[in-house]
Amino acid sequence: MEKSNYNVIRNYELETWTRCSSSYNDTWATLTNETLPLLISKANINSKTSVLDIGCGAGNSTNLISQNTADVIGIDFSERMIDKAREVYPNITFKSSDAEDIPLEDNSVDVVIANFVIHHFAEPNKVFKEINRVLKSNGKFAFAVWGANEEQSSLGAFFQAFANHHELTELPHGPLFGVTDFETYNTLASNAGLKNFTLEKLNTDWKMNSLDPLINGCWDWGNLHLFPKDKQDSIKNDFIENCESFKKEDQYLFPHSAIIGYAEKT
Ligand SMILES: C[S@@+](CC[C@H](N)C(=O)[O-])C[C@H]1O[C@@H](n2cnc3c(N)ncnc32)[C@H](O)[C@@H]1O
Repeated sequence: MEKSNYNVIRNYELETWTRCSSSYNDTWATLTNETLPLLISKANINSKTSVLDIGCGAGNSTNLISQNTADVIGIDFSERMIDKAREVYPNITFKSSDAEDIPLEDNSVDVVIANFVIHHFAEPNKVFKEINRVLKSNGKFAFAVWGANEEQSSLGAFFQAFANHHELTELPHGPLFGVTDFETYNTLASNAGLKNFTLEKLNTDWKMNSLDPLINGCWDWGNLHLFPKDKQDSIKNDFIENCESFKKEDQYLFPHSAIIGYAEKT
């Protein structure tokens, strides 16, 4: 990838997630946590397994993994995310580091987990090779990314409301953004030296008693706080209206889908 393009994507991702660091565990994490039980079980994590959690955010994923093994470390390139993770989970080890340059020895971990991370990488090829480098022989790699865009109901409700009041502009994104096909991930995995690649779809529901986690998550992610107050109010009103059809009795239930990838080191 051209250096300038690489820098645009990396800086955009770093800025976005740094901005989301204080609200992340109360917002997006309540959705992204849904895929972790499957990743943990696919990678067969038990009390003897050493695990690296790549792009750990504010520690939600590392914390869930730590309920199965104490030997876990979370890394994230946003220092603010790492500060937050350390504040919330002081007994877990976190390091600020880019996934392109993992601060671990060759052949040193049993499992690498990347929960909703790899579609944010500017250079996924480089990261897959790093993952293969740090995994022990026969080590396991499990990841989750979003399924098809049209299956992300809560985000659909947001983007529809946003588009009513503001022009949608193309945001910088890495090569795996929106990618759900087997072949792309299988090629990446095998080029990195990983084998036995599998991909499956997981349907999840994002349940919430109030819309606050969704609204706050979208506002921080899209930096909508910078918009004039009347525009923010109009977007919010339309957003709330779009969410009405997902109300089931006293809670909201938003269908989502994720893609789960799994590979092993040769
Ligand atoms: C959507 S969050 C996922 C957080 C967490 N894994 C979870 O399950 O909710 C994506 C995280 O990946 C991090 N990230 C993105 N690109 C990265 C990179 N190149 N190196 C390390 N972390 C990265 C971001 O800072 C952000 O915290």
